[in-house]
Amino acid sequence: MGSLNDTFDSTLRSVQSAQTERELEDIRVQALGRKGSITLALRGLKDLSPEQRPVEGEKINRFKKSIEAALEQRRNELEAGIGEQRAALDGIDISLPSRARYKGSLHPVTQALTRIEDIFLNAGYDVVHGPEIEDEYHNFEALNIPAGHPARDMHDTFYLKDGQVLRTHTSPVQIRTMENREPPIHIICPGRVYRCDYDRTHTPMFHQVEGLVVDRGVSFAHLKHTVIEFIHTFFEESVEVRFRPSYFPFTEPSAEVDVKGAHGWSEVMGCGMVHPRVLSMSNVDPEEFSGFAFGFGADRLAMLKFGIRDLRLMFENDLRFLNQFR
Ligand code: DAH
Repeated sequence: MGSLNDTFDSTLRSVQSAQTERELEDIRVQALGRKGSITLALRGLKDLSPEQRPVEGEKINRFKKSIEAALEQRRNELEAGIGEQRAALDGIDISLPSRARYKGSLHPVTQALTRIEDIFLNAGYDVVHGPEIEDEYHNFEALNIPAGHPARDMHDTFYLKDGQVLRTHTSPVQIRTMENREPPIHIICPGRVYRCDYDRTHTPMFHQVEGLVVDRGVSFAHLKHTVIEFIHTFFEESVEVRFRPSYFPFTEPSAEVDVKGAHGWSEVMGCGMVHPRVLSMSNVDPEEFSGFAFGFGADRLAMLKFGIRDLRLMFENDLRFLNQFR
């Protein structure tokens, strides 16, 4: 049976040098298939003498096991090699540690806006929205800011080609609401506003929240109570609040509201009793109804709450900044 030894040796060698799965399969069939060398040798055992049979049988079975093991090992090597080749082609280093997963979180301005909306929703207000591209009538005239009024200069307005504007405040949503609803009205209007301005406390886009209440018998006392309650709830502590007389064309009387923080008093909002002319321009009878309004920057409240010194950080989307507000 010298020839079987030779066949066995050459089979093992070709298994070890095979380059593809298909080559391996051909070798397997030649050795272990129905007409393979090992299969035929096992079948030939019956022609041997009873003394030779167990000796030869044991040897052939040993060959068979060795070939099976070698096939298995070479198959694994080929598979691993293919993985490595693919990874090399894709430029992937599979030995690198995997990348950490980032968990998203709400932007500090979104957190502030959500909180503001919740506070007013709990007090029975509706949240309403208006267009960011406005006409001059709703952004200015209906708010008692006619063309040529000095208050227009303070708005640093972005004008569009067709004579419309990017709204400079959320106050026009007051007007749109009064035009479309009968009192009693209790609304807040959050949204983006635009002004051509850029420094530590100004960005060309920022967020305001407007409030409007119109009903019979609404007074300045209602306004003060609402504003103070809101500020205390928003800051979760009884911060000091003060009202200063001020001027807005659309309210009379008007006030500005300051809160006392670690760095002294900061102005947080404007407010007042809705000017009778503003009511009548929007078809609300000032003899029957009165109202109060307020408006504030949501980003500004978020800055105060989180102790942020530069408004521009809010809109740079730097993860090192945003990760601090998880
Ligand atoms: N619209 C004003 C602004 O953008 C803010 C404001 C002040 C709104 C007084 C009001 C108000 O409703 O009563 O500066």
